[in-house]
Amino acid sequence: MIRKGIILAGGSGTRLYPVTQIISKQLLPIFDKPMIYYPLCTLMLAGIRDILIIATPHDLPQFRALLRDGAHLGVRISYAEQPKPEGLAQAFLIGEKWIDGEGCALILGDNLIHGSYLSIMLRKASARTEGATIFAYQVRDPERYGILAFDQAGKPADIVEKPVTPPSNWAVTGLYFYDRHVTDYARRIKPSLRNELEITDLNNIYLHKNAMRVERLGRGVAWLDAGTPQSLLQAATFVQTIQDRQGNLVGCPEEVAFHMSFIDADQLREQARAIEKTELGSILMKIADREICSYEPGNEPII
Ligand code: TTP
Repeated sequence: MIRKGIILAGGSGTRLYPVTQIISKQLLPIFDKPMIYYPLCTLMLAGIRDILIIATPHDLPQFRALLRDGAHLGVRISYAEQPKPEGLAQAFLIGEKWIDGEGCALILGDNLIHGSYLSIMLRKASARTEGATIFAYQVRDPERYGILAFDQAGKPADIVEKPVTPPSNWAVTGLYFYDRHVTDYARRIKPSLRNELEITDLNNIYLHKNAMRVERLGRGVAWLDAGTPQSLLQAATFVQTIQDRQGNLVGCPEEVAFHMSFIDADQLREQARAIEKTELGSILMKIADREICSYEPGNEPII
């Protein structure tokens, strides 16, 4: 079982300037919650309770003020600095001591993944102790992502970073699960032409060792990143639409903590009271009182 997960929330957010000149992108709201809540929920749904948040030295104190040590969510949150955005794979070098030779998941702080049967897929990925798991998603603009190339038998053969001529339209999403070899392999990677330690290089090490499992996310799943004004607004509208229509919450760590039995109903009520003037607070109160059950059958976290 992979018990640890990193949320990478550094970067410079240049596509969201001027807003992100003074505040971290991952602290901006997606509708009614800070962006980082969404990837945090994804890790928690995978059963991960030991979490490392990596951010710039400038932004880290604000993440710490928001999420503290995680005890109110029944998880343990640690913090580490990434002085410069030198690549996603650098997370494993920064976190090497904290990882301490175990397997580790990684999620990008601006990724929102939501959909049918996701919890089951996440729990399967964290249950694998050998090799790595990544998630592939069909996109319209493959030039922007790490893209999978398949062999004639349809097996993933390679991942190409931002290809000029994309070998497919299956992009690698910003959620990765790695076994205990991850820090070793991350050490082998050399900076790319854009001077970053590329996650694609790390993924290709696993893939070429035949130790990579690629899960395809289907149409029932939404994968959004919120890196531009347009995608930030789209993500907010997405969350608002689902929450308004279904009365279910998207990306609410207090709710996930309760459903995963990381906290009990009294602890959830305490969290709800802290935000009692919000709709979120009143929904959480109803969940604590079991007036609302927000998971569809077959997709519920282990309770
Ligand atoms: P990007 O969107 O590639 O970069 P960015 O967030 O700095 O934004 P921009 O392109 O507008 O300048 O990063 C994807 C996610 O990964 C985002 O959540 C930031 C994070 N990240 C790091 O934390 N450290 C890094 O070294 C890199 C490259 C990204």
